[in-house]
Amino acid sequence: MRQLIIHGTIFPVKTSRAPRRGQALPAEPPIRDGAIVIEDDIIQAVGPTKDIVAQYPGVHAVWDAKGCAVLPGFVDCHTHLPFAAWRADEYRLRLAGKRYEEIAHARGGIVRSSQQLRQTPSDHVTSFVRALAGEMLMTGTTTMEMKSGYGLSVRDELRQLRLIQTLRKQVKQRIVSTGLFLHAPPPETSRSLWIDQVMHQLWPAAYDEGLLDAVDAFVEEGAFTPSEVRSLLVQASQHQLLTRLHADQLSRMGGTKMGLDLAVRGLDHLDYLAAEDLERLASSGTVAVLLPAATYSMKQTVRPPAREIIDAGGAVAIATDFNPGTAPISSIPLTMSLAVHLFDLTPEEALSAVTINAAYVLGLDQQIGSLEVGKQADVLILDTDELAMIPYRAGHNPVARVMVRGQWVVGEKGLGGV
Ligand code: NIG
Ligand code: FE
Repeated sequence: MRQLIIHGTIFPVKTSRAPRRGQALPAEPPIRDGAIVIEDDIIQAVGPTKDIVAQYPGVHAVWDAKGCAVLPGFVDCHTHLPFAAWRADEYRLRLAGKRYEEIAHARGGIVRSSQQLRQTPSDHVTSFVRALAGEMLMTGTTTMEMKSGYGLSVRDELRQLRLIQTLRKQVKQRIVSTGLFLHAPPPETSRSLWIDQVMHQLWPAAYDEGLLDAVDAFVEEGAFTPSEVRSLLVQASQHQLLTRLHADQLSRMGGTKMGLDLAVRGLDHLDYLAAEDLERLASSGTVAVLLPAATYSMKQTVRPPAREIIDAGGAVAIATDFNPGTAPISSIPLTMSLAVHLFDLTPEEALSAVTINAAYVLGLDQQIGSLEVGKQADVLILDTDELAMIPYRAGHNPVARVMVRGQWVVGEKGLGGV
């Protein structure tokens, strides 16, 4: 089937080589009165409406964007879905002055989410997560990462990864599956035994079952050291999986240095990035994945040096870090606003950071992340033609219509609309 979107203010985020970096990070000015031709699920042409209409005469399904912004679907390249329940009581404790680390130490935090997941039947977990994925679709997320990390035993990590496979069939979005096996030391096992189980049982089993697209680890005080996670990352990249690292989130533990040595695809958080790592990161192929919703929710005054990374020529992506502990925010438009306000990105930089660069972090930059010929048709229509309205109207949902793989999934009757 051929479909046309006409009279749009189109932001193609056209990228000859991902990731966009440095001065080339910001998305270019839009094509005014532009059109897109979609053949089944693939973009066939992008250009001025008058040229496209002349080139593609005849009767097609046509959507008039009435001048509103047309963007690539948002790619949330860092979430901790699936989880089973919220932790608002811990949030109250933090509001009252308790530190995240103290709560985690008292069997809150990641260990608590692990208990919640273990206690919740699988069909309850999937219906809870389906509702959240529905929320994310309404705010324009057409691809998302999901990861393990709340299992904390071989059996429960595998269960969480299998739940991701189940959810893949149940939600509209494209899903990338990451194994975050070294997230927190399980309370019932010694650290060294757990690392041993991960290396010799969990990782091989998850890989053999085809449950993994990527591997991540949490380098932090109270979590794991660089030397504890290194060989898992080496193994994963030898098996052609993408590797990621939570690094420099709450303290500086040397995760960034090791991640750069191993040329991981993404280094995530980086609030405590050291000056000496900055230049090296900025000139590397590794993307700085910035998570402003975590910085905001944790009321952190220490921020990642986002401007310095970009100005030194680095590549950045932005994601939600959606999880019940440090970042209970699922909306990419709100997260873009936080990136603009807290990390000093421009709206155009934020757009590239949640589309093509986030797609690159997930290894999907050839398929999605921009509105270019040959790409999958994941398309958003906003309720405005002004990109700055996204950060400016923080909390407002600017997304009026959502197309995933050539199908309108938000904007039809009953789901809101333009
Ligand atoms: O990305 N940093 C590690 N993991 C999560 C927090 C998980 C939780 O508190 O449940 C994060 O911030
Ligand atoms: Fe995270």
